[in-house]
Amino acid sequence: MEAKLDDILAKSWAKLQQAKEGKAGSRYITVCNFAECYPNAYTVVLREVLPDEHQVIFHTDFRSEKVNEIKSKPNLTIVYYDDADHVQIILKGKVAIHYLDDVAKQQWQQSGFKSRRNYLTQKAPSSPLKEEGSGLEYLGDKKFDDNDLSGYENFAVVILDVNALEYLQLNKDGNRRGRFKAEQKNVWIGEWITP
Ligand SMILES: Cc1cc2nc3c(=O)[nH]c(=O)nc-3n(C[C@H](O)[C@H](O)[C@H](O)COP(=O)(O)O)c2cc1C
Repeated sequence: MEAKLDDILAKSWAKLQQAKEGKAGSRYITVCNFAECYPNAYTVVLREVLPDEHQVIFHTDFRSEKVNEIKSKPNLTIVYYDDADHVQIILKGKVAIHYLDDVAKQQWQQSGFKSRRNYLTQKAPSSPLKEEGSGLEYLGDKKFDDNDLSGYENFAVVILDVNALEYLQLNKDGNRRGRFKAEQKNVWIGEWITP
C-alpha cells in the first residue's frame, strides 16, 4: 500500500464529503466537547462539509446544556469512522454557534421536516419526564409546511473550523496514520505518525 502524505489531506476531506452525501460510511459523527466533570460525547448528523473553508457543520437544540458547555469552551473533537474502508478521521478545532441569524436561517431552510421536528420537544433536551415519552405528544398529527418556523427558536447551527486532522487507515499489510495541522488558513503541515 503506497500513499502520498499530500494526498491524505484531500482524501480525508473527500471522504467526509462523501459521508455527508450518504456515499461513504455513515452520515453520523461522534462529537466530544468539554463539560464540567466528564468529556461530553454524542452522535450527530454530519450536515455540511466545506473542504475549502476546512469546516464541518452540525445542528443541535439551542436549549441543550451542551450549547452552554461549547460556548464556555469552544474546542471540539469530532470522530468519523468508515467501517467499509476502515478509515478513521479525527478533526479538532474551534466552533462558532449560529442562532437566529442568516446562517441558522439558511440551514433551517435546507433541513426537512423530519429533522425540524426534533426541535419541537416541549421541554429542553435532557429535561426529566414524569413518564416515558417523546416530548412531541402535544403536537398530535399537526402538519407543517416547508415555510413553517415552528421549532426554529430552538435550532442552533454549530460550525467547526478545523485546525487539526488525523487520518488512520487500517490495513492487513500495515496500518498508516498521518496528522495535519493548520499553521495558517490554507497552510497545512503534515507528517506520518506511528499507527
Ligand atoms: C443517529 C443519531 C443522530 C443524531 N443526530 C443528532 C443531531 O444531529 N443533533 C443533535 O443535537 N443530536 C443528535 N442526536 C442525539 C445526540 O446524540 C444526543 O443524544 C442529544 O443531542 C442529547 O443531547 P443533550 O445531552 O444535550 O440533552 C443523534 C443521535 C443519534 C443516535
